[in-house]
Amino acid sequence: MLPLKVKDRPIVCTLLAAGCCARCILRFCCIGLQSAYRQPYEDLAKELLAFASAEESDKSKDATDKEPTEDPPCKKMRLETEQSHTEGGDKAETSPAQAQTDPDSANSEVCVVCLGVLQHFCDKAFAKKVSEAVATERYQFDSLVLSVSLPAQLSVREHSIWLLVKKQVREKAMCLGKDDVIQVKEAFKWIMNGLVSQELSVPVLGKSLFEVSVGFTHPETDGDCHFLATTCSDCFKPAKNKLSVFTRMAVVKALEKISEENFRRQFPCPPGHPATRCTVQDTQCLHVSVFVAGRYNKFSRTLPQTPWVIDGERRMESSVEELITAPLLSSFRSEGFNFSSSGREDVDVRTLGNGRPFAVELLNPHRAQFSKEEIREMQKAINQSSDKIRVRDLQVVTRDAVAHMKEGEEEKTKSYGALIWTLRPIEKDDIEFINDIKELKIAQKTPLRVLHRRPLAVRQRVIHTMTARFLDTHHFHLNLRTQAGTYIKEFVHGDFGRTKPNLCELMKTDTDILELDVESVDVDWPPAIED
Ligand SMILES: *[C@@H]1O[C@H](CO)[C@@H](O)[C@H](O)[C@H]1NC(C)=O
Ligand SMILES: *[C@@H]1O[C@H](CO)[C@@H](O)[C@H](O)[C@H]1NC(C)=O
Ligand SMILES: [Zn+2]
Repeated sequence: MLPLKVKDRPIVCTLLAAGCCARCILRFCCIGLQSAYRQPYEDLAKELLAFASAEESDKSKDATDKEPTEDPPCKKMRLETEQSHTEGGDKAETSPAQAQTDPDSANSEVCVVCLGVLQHFCDKAFAKKVSEAVATERYQFDSLVLSVSLPAQLSVREHSIWLLVKKQVREKAMCLGKDDVIQVKEAFKWIMNGLVSQELSVPVLGKSLFEVSVGFTHPETDGDCHFLATTCSDCFKPAKNKLSVFTRMAVVKALEKISEENFRRQFPCPPGHPATRCTVQDTQCLHVSVFVAGRYNKFSRTLPQTPWVIDGERRMESSVEELITAPLLSSFRSEGFNFSSSGREDVDVRTLGNGRPFAVELLNPHRAQFSKEEIREMQKAINQSSDKIRVRDLQVVTRDAVAHMKEGEEEKTKSYGALIWTLRPIEKDDIEFINDIKELKIAQKTPLRVLHRRPLAVRQRVIHTMTARFLDTHHFHLNLRTQAGTYIKEFVHGDFGRTKPNLCELMKTDTDILELDVESVDVDWPPAIED
């Protein structure tokens, strides 16, 4: 039994006459009973027709019916369908009487509002089709959320029908808010969630890490939205990644602004009958990103951190980023990645010690759950893939933790080891004074070598301590503990006086840096993993 009341009958009749499908009629009667939508479409259509045509008998046997009796809507409906029959002529219209005896015919007309979505794409067969598409993608998931994208013009049609129903309801001194009407999407999910859940044997939830998107288009009625452009130019602004300005959001916004009179003038109420049903787009699957963090060592002076491409041409054959992510991408069967790290080193700088913290966002991973042992295997695979890098502390982390790695970066300390050359010959004593320098404040203009990608600025940095170790008359080894973000090379050679003070000034001779290693990045994240 449908939870319809006598007062709903004229609405049902109006909507039937307007060409709404059975489920859209339930929606506009604000029926929130989910099981009503889940009935087989034919049964529901049959029941609604029976309910609609029961009016006559009601009235004849109950003359004292309190329902207003003027202009019986079902008679009007009959009239309208007959009219369109004679006018159109090209298509076999079904009279309600016929429809009653042949419930399937209620199916043959494409719904003027949902354009067939709730008629033809809300059953076990469609759930099977969607589920099969999901299965071929071979994702690992233990729940899913179903999302639906509908053609934008559906909102225009929805508005038109809403005005129609509102008018009728108002005549009876009742009111109908747009929010009371059940949304197409909602009804779709009420029916489909359970069916898809059965097919894929996982719960379909309101929220899940794994999203299955079903999309519908209806090219035949795309033009329905176009008149709105003249009523609200603000609403329809071209966006870079959108094919059309008539997005669902923009259309909804325009519909909120347009007056009822203006709408009625420009769009038929009820909307015209579509000849075709919606087209189904390919089912899209998306798993939320998984984040993996760790620390890397780089032992090569010819390996950039990220692919080095100049004028579209690759300069180095690999990169830290690629060496680390290759085994991750294949294990997570991910569609892409986003690599970030706590600072970065130049191509000719090694990163030693405990390594540099990094994080990789794995985009749309087809597999997302791994044991600690499996993560360790990935770390091993990275270690074994090349002599140029090693990775430790590899682990799955949260998105928030990655943000934490990036913040407060400037306050952190980094330690470096450098091989220094001096123009003037030196003796052991000449470099002793360096060990006594503490908390040296330096000002660094953006280095010439990065000026093409960074704005010109002066940065204050602190060199906390330095330790010099004599090697020969033109070379010494220098250890530095500095604030993160200090340009070490520029501090040594002075960058044409752009870094002040610099080592040349302190040594009173030209100095240059021959080799640089990052000895430690003092960021206490990610946590150490026991081997
Ligand atoms: C990569 O990460 C950055 C910063 O964390 C973010 O702004 C960007 O949108 C991400 N890219 C992708 C493709 O997710
Ligand atoms: C990978 O290399 C690092 C650095 O040498 C080491 O600490 C770690 O244990 C190695 N991991 C595996 C699984 O081989
Ligand atoms: Zn419908």
